[in-house]
Amino acid sequence: MLSINNLRVVYHDVISVLNGISMEVKQGEILVIIGANGAGKTTLLRTIAGMIHFYDGDIIDGDIKMGDVSINGLDSSDIMKRYSLTYVMEDRPIFEYLTIEENLKAAAYSRWDSKVKGDIEKVLGYFPALKNTFNRRAGYASGGEQQMLAIGMALMTKPRMLLLDEPSLGLAPMITRELFQIIQKLNESGITIVLVEQNAFAALSIADRGYVVEMGRVVLDGEGQALLKNEDVREFYLGAGESERKSYKDAKRYKRRKRWL
Ligand SMILES: Nc1ncnc2c1ncn2[C@@H]1O[C@H](COP(=O)(O)OP(=O)(O)OP(=O)(O)O)[C@@H](O)[C@H]1O
Ligand SMILES: [Mg+2]
Repeated sequence: MLSINNLRVVYHDVISVLNGISMEVKQGEILVIIGANGAGKTTLLRTIAGMIHFYDGDIIDGDIKMGDVSINGLDSSDIMKRYSLTYVMEDRPIFEYLTIEENLKAAAYSRWDSKVKGDIEKVLGYFPALKNTFNRRAGYASGGEQQMLAIGMALMTKPRMLLLDEPSLGLAPMITRELFQIIQKLNESGITIVLVEQNAFAALSIADRGYVVEMGRVVLDGEGQALLKNEDVREFYLGAGESERKSYKDAKRYKRRKRWL
């Protein structure tokens, strides 16, 4: 469905963040991307969604394709419309001063059909928690409700592919579990999911496949269950190795041992 080939992205002409990254997203799957802070995960999603230039970033090499067609350089709204690809950014983009209902309606702005009301019902079906706060300002909603709203707004665009950037950030474990179950349901309804997560355990548990990204490159990939059992992933992302949690410095030293490369 989507393929990324040897992609290189720099910010401000000099800061090299994606250093020849390649990956594939298959139709209908849940693909999880994990990696340390600063590995380039958000940059990758911004680039796929055609938004990298808003951040002073440029593609300097490589290719992103939808099927056989290159989408490099396409405008974000074109990518969204032509390929029904919607990106939910990591900072929960909602309109704080609008109500939940108004936010959902606003998210449907690019649509011409009159089925918005029915689709709002569908979103509330996925996220019943939003029913209680439907007429309240989104700014007063809890972190979990705001994240659900952000995904609900993305659903109003009728996506075939959803890019989710750290949806579990700052959420309590119970809410995270609930959110991931909903992501699974969305996938079962036919939406291809690309999920970037720090919460590697929860994410890999629902993943068909996953990639580990370090320093703007893929260092490991495999099926979700295989990655969950992988010794290196367990040690560095699941905190289940010899010691409870390793620092990024340790990870760098570890990288020099080149077990992944
Ligand atoms: N607009 C920008 N201009 C310059 N550098 C940037 C910009 N955005 C991101 N970076 C840098 O690019 C690197 C990768 O950032 P990115 O946000 O893609 O990483 P990430 O894997 O999403 O990290 P995190 O897990 O913290 O969200 C970081 O070193 C970051 O400081
Ligand atoms: Mg990020």
